Amino acid sequence: MSKISQRVSTISPSMTLAMSAKAAELKAAGENVINFGVGEPDFNTPAHIVQAAKDALDKGYTKYVAAAGLPALKKAVCKKFKEDNGLDYDPSQIIITNGGKHAIFNAMFATIDPGDEVIIPAPYWLTYPEVVKCCGGVPVYVYASRDAGFKVRAAQIEGAITPKTKMLVFNSPNNPTGAVYTEDEIRAIAEVCERHNVLVLSDEMYEKLIYGGEKHFSIAAVSPRMKELTITVNGVSKSYAMTGWRLGYLAAEKAIAKAISSFQSHSTSNVNTMTQYAAIAALDGPTEPMAQMVEAFGARRNRMIELLDGMKSLGLDYVKPDGAFYVMLLCDKFYGKRHEGRRIAGSMDMAELLLTHAKVALTPGICFGDDDCVRLSYALSMEDMEEGLRRISDFVKNIK
Ligand SMILES: Cc1ncc(COP(=O)(O)O)c(C=O)c1O
Repeated sequence: MSKISQRVSTISPSMTLAMSAKAAELKAAGENVINFGVGEPDFNTPAHIVQAAKDALDKGYTKYVAAAGLPALKKAVCKKFKEDNGLDYDPSQIIITNGGKHAIFNAMFATIDPGDEVIIPAPYWLTYPEVVKCCGGVPVYVYASRDAGFKVRAAQIEGAITPKTKMLVFNSPNNPTGAVYTEDEIRAIAEVCERHNVLVLSDEMYEKLIYGGEKHFSIAAVSPRMKELTITVNGVSKSYAMTGWRLGYLAAEKAIAKAISSFQSHSTSNVNTMTQYAAIAALDGPTEPMAQMVEAFGARRNRMIELLDGMKSLGLDYVKPDGAFYVMLLCDKFYGKRHEGRRIAGSMDMAELLLTHAKVALTPGICFGDDDCVRLSYALSMEDMEEGLRRISDFVKNIK
């Protein structure tokens, strides 16, 4: 008898870990590694948010609170949904979670039965399939083409629907591609989900990080029916530079929210109380510090695009990102060729060689279901970004 449950034994360990461990090893050995692998803003949490947590501690707010979240925070989340997304929720429909990841886990755990199929557009954030498998579900991938700006079309989703389809995972702005779906594209996808009665897990973690004039649109805002079918996941990690605080939230139809609230009360209970006070300050407080962060990301994204355009002649290509802080660099033209005698078979080799020879850390696209690419994060300084891209250019010039 195996000690590990079947459910958990299907989960793959994070493929990115080996790469980050190697990058950390090189850094510790004194190497100047440029890190394009970062998945979090390189900005500090704004001072007024930190102060709110300190105040909460000073006031003795260190006890248990309601498992699904502080009423004051739920109220702030309802206000956010109303003002930013045009969505009216009752506080009973909101669950405060330990980060966006926990909200995704909760949403799937509450809805997926063994054998249920979950459609995941690829490239995808690598956690989705693992959570689906953990719940006994079956991930079904639909591939977004680079020509379509790494966005899946409604018809592709419809083509993947079977009688077993329970859910679509939808993520805009997207990690890893930076794609931002337009309202029309979202409405077309929603129409398919409504017609086939498919739940949507809408991961909107990067909502605030959009550049170049695109606008965020929540799929739940399409219609009252779509609102019923959608579980919207969001959080403060990326939008407010609060990754280490661990605070996410979700909004769902009442029965789903009630189910999640029940099992959260038997698993994690409430998110730590002072973090919830900090989150209220984040959602209700001044927006200037975050506007500055978004402006800085926007400037880096523009510079990144400018430099990547200059690298096209070397055989590298990319799809312009409109949101989050990632860009997928297409490097399949180099597959089958050699760097200092070593054959490059795919994105894992590309990432490994770049780290060893160019001292550049990035994430192989295979982690996100697209082996043709590597993912670059621009959550690093402009100087490092410029130096890192110079190193990548020099590296590819030596591929024969
Ligand atoms: C698309 C996406 N969703 C959710 C998360 C999870 O966010 P959190 O750190 O709040 O758990 C991440 C984090 O990288 C992400 O990229």
